[in-house]
Amino acid sequence: MSTETNVSVFASGNGSNFQSMLEHDAILKKIKLLVCDKPGAPVIERANRYNVPVKLISPAEFTGKEAYERDILTELRNRDIHWIFLAGYMRLIGATLLHAYTGKIVNIHPSLLPAFPGLDAIGQAIRTGATETGVTIHYVDAGMDTGAIIAQQCIPVLPGDTVDELTQRVQKVEHALYPETIKRLINT
Ligand code: GRF
Repeated sequence: MSTETNVSVFASGNGSNFQSMLEHDAILKKIKLLVCDKPGAPVIERANRYNVPVKLISPAEFTGKEAYERDILTELRNRDIHWIFLAGYMRLIGATLLHAYTGKIVNIHPSLLPAFPGLDAIGQAIRTGATETGVTIHYVDAGMDTGAIIAQQCIPVLPGDTVDELTQRVQKVEHALYPETIKRLINT
């Protein structure tokens, strides 16, 4: 194994968090692979612009989650990947990857976990009348947004906030907190 710390990012959509990583040279030079499960996702174009290799993979082409993750695992091992950072990857990580990368898979979630896990965390905060929400970076375990917390930052929910307005403020925090936390984790 080389002494380099190699990173893979998993994403399914826009990839603004991925972009925030690409804009830090110390992280960019460690990113050796983007794994994306959605053809045409804007995150792919972002990877192309920075010459990051992309593994585009379609779960429907596999017999189940185990076969799908084994295929990803082969690619991760071929590239000597040490860390996986999830950035809007819209699937639960299964046993195959969890066992191979114990303590090395990290996710970002747009709430102060354990509040508002799962989908539409920002909408959940607004609909329940919460006065604050935030961003959580956490290790990934077998549950939905249940792993040990690494970093959190609070964001007030303002009276009359729309989902779009709050999303913008949440993402601004994400784009600073995730790269900063990644640098700390991978020791750059
Ligand atoms: C982010 O809000 C992140 O917290 C959540 O998914 C969203 C991804 O946004 N897990 P983007 O694709 O990085 O723009």
